[in-house]
Amino acid sequence: MENLRLETDRLIIRNWRESDIEPYAELSADTEVMTYIGDGLPRNMEYARTFVHQMMTLYEERGWIRFAVEHKDSGDFMGFCGYELVDEVLDYGWRYVRKYWGGGYGSEAAIAVLELGRNRYGLKNIQSKSYPENVGSVRIMEKMGLSFLRESTENGRRVVHYGFPDEAAAAEEQGTM
Ligand SMILES: CC(C)(COP(=O)(O)OP(=O)(O)OC[C@H]1O[C@@H](n2cnc3c(N)ncnc32)[C@H](O)[C@@H]1OP(=O)(O)O)[C@@H](O)C(=O)NCCC(=O)NCCS
Repeated sequence: MENLRLETDRLIIRNWRESDIEPYAELSADTEVMTYIGDGLPRNMEYARTFVHQMMTLYEERGWIRFAVEHKDSGDFMGFCGYELVDEVLDYGWRYVRKYWGGGYGSEAAIAVLELGRNRYGLKNIQSKSYPENVGSVRIMEKMGLSFLRESTENGRRVVHYGFPDEAAAAEEQGTM
């Protein structure tokens, strides 16, 4: 697979490296970062190693993954932004180290990687979900142009799903989601 290196004004979007495992493990062990992820519990080094290796393998196989995001000026590993199949839905997600929250980086990466997913990889019916209390995450969805699709419950908590209504409807009609 041709090596991806997508640059935005302040970010580099790329495949993962072995050296990302340690900072990704730190991010995953941060209880504040993990508050709105799944069961809300922090994860360990083994999880981080497995995740990074899984992303590297999927990158070789199909290209689109939850890409690593790097801070252009400092070279810092910041987190991820990208795609994963979750319960047969093309889930678009993001997660960053606390140090970089609130600086517009989440939106910058999300908008660039959405374009990448649609134009380079031809991805359709991209969806994103969040606990509604995660206001920053829902705001990113809105800024990308996604619309509210439906609600569900996960881990006993309310979840909102966003996406492209026309593509979601077409996929439902074809029975592909
Ligand atoms: C959610 C997260 C990705 C946001 O990233 P970020 O880089 O801080 O986002 P941005 O700075 O681009 O902000 C996006 C918008 O949300 C708003 N926002 C961000 N965090 C917010 C917060 N905690 N409360 C209210 N608004 C918030 C920003 O003001 C901005 O809106 P605006 O452009 O209208 O002013 C980041 O906080 C994070 O990694 N959280 C932990 C992991 C996580 O929860 N991932 C998502 C799971 S669904």
